[in-house]
Amino acid sequence: MMPTRWDLLLTHANLASFAGDMPFGLIEDGALACADGRIAWIGPMRELPPGASATHVEDLGGALLTPGLVDCHTHLVFGGNRANEFDMRLNGASYEDIARAGGGIVSSVRATRAASEDELFAQSLPRARALLADGVTTLEIKSGYGLETETERRMLRVARRIGSELGITVRTSFLGLHALPPEYKERRDDYVTLVCDTMLPELAAEGLIDAVDAFCEKIAFTPAETRRLFERATQLGLPVKLHAEQLSDQGGAALVASFHGLSADHLEHLGDTGIAAMAEAGTVAVLLPGAFYALRETRLPPVAALREHGVPMAVATDCNPGTSPLLSLRLAANMACTLFRLTPEEALRAITVDAARALGLDDRGTLAVGQRADLVRWNAKHPAELCYWIGGSLARTIYRGGCAIPA
Ligand code: NIG
Ligand code: FE
Repeated sequence: MMPTRWDLLLTHANLASFAGDMPFGLIEDGALACADGRIAWIGPMRELPPGASATHVEDLGGALLTPGLVDCHTHLVFGGNRANEFDMRLNGASYEDIARAGGGIVSSVRATRAASEDELFAQSLPRARALLADGVTTLEIKSGYGLETETERRMLRVARRIGSELGITVRTSFLGLHALPPEYKERRDDYVTLVCDTMLPELAAEGLIDAVDAFCEKIAFTPAETRRLFERATQLGLPVKLHAEQLSDQGGAALVASFHGLSADHLEHLGDTGIAAMAEAGTVAVLLPGAFYALRETRLPPVAALREHGVPMAVATDCNPGTSPLLSLRLAANMACTLFRLTPEEALRAITVDAARALGLDDRGTLAVGQRADLVRWNAKHPAELCYWIGGSLARTIYRGGCAIPA
């Protein structure tokens, strides 16, 4: 039943709903109403019920309104940065060279371990603010620069704190199997045991973990080690996802799909078996063009085959200090079009509805009655503009649960 009075009514908007049959789910000259933090009505202006009223009414004058954007893969909590490696890479060192020489992930581990919770929060918050300023209202943040219980806990606590500070949703992923910590160099099995039998259950019991991730790669963890972690996660009732097929084909995508994983991410080296397994399981392909760009990768993820098999594609920033110091999800969508040949519509679905799906969330990412009223009003008229402009700032007002977040 329609409330007598809505909390918020936005009129004369171009609504990119990502629902229905129209491209972008576009409703031109539309209206959208919110009540109790949810979308209560959406449709063309001419169908607005006569006498409809709301506590706040705003005429958008033809501006574009979309769902709040969803960044479904970030590592934005970390200490320090790795600008020095940028220089090394430009001089010819590969990501693997740097990792094998004791740099890479492990150097961020040193800086993160050295930072107190408040320092880590202070260093990480501006990165989350930058994403929010560009329209992100739901954000995934991984651990994985602690690689021991205390620092992994600190990272996850900081991630939760960022969510409450900014009034946005933060979903945490535990990435204990990100890199082998130097102190376990000769004892990899002991480290995997520590992650599976101590860190994961302890941090899960503290309510710090929403999903479990791993880096399945020659320079990181094997499929067998990843499987051990996924079995443990499944016992604890936690969903899984995976950094898969980034530098080589390890069969990671098929592995995560066999656990009905939420997503397989990166995927430049994904082959047919992995694609078929993902299609079958409904595992989302998360494409990370920022890492592709920063590593000057030349092998493209198999977008045409993913499309053909109906695998949903999401795009994320992968914001991290090593391979993707990227602070704009819209720029990631732009790169997904230019570098990976997604259509603008695919790229926008990839940072809204399909990104939400990659986090296991079905209450956001589209504009439809009953969805969370997480919305962005843009300084733009047509949705394609969001991935057409390269950089810059386009978001005008960001609403969370129907309330405007102060910029
Ligand atoms: O998603 N691939 C592994 N993990 C990150 C990189 C992390 C780092 O280099 O600090 C990624 O690209
Ligand atoms: Fe990543």
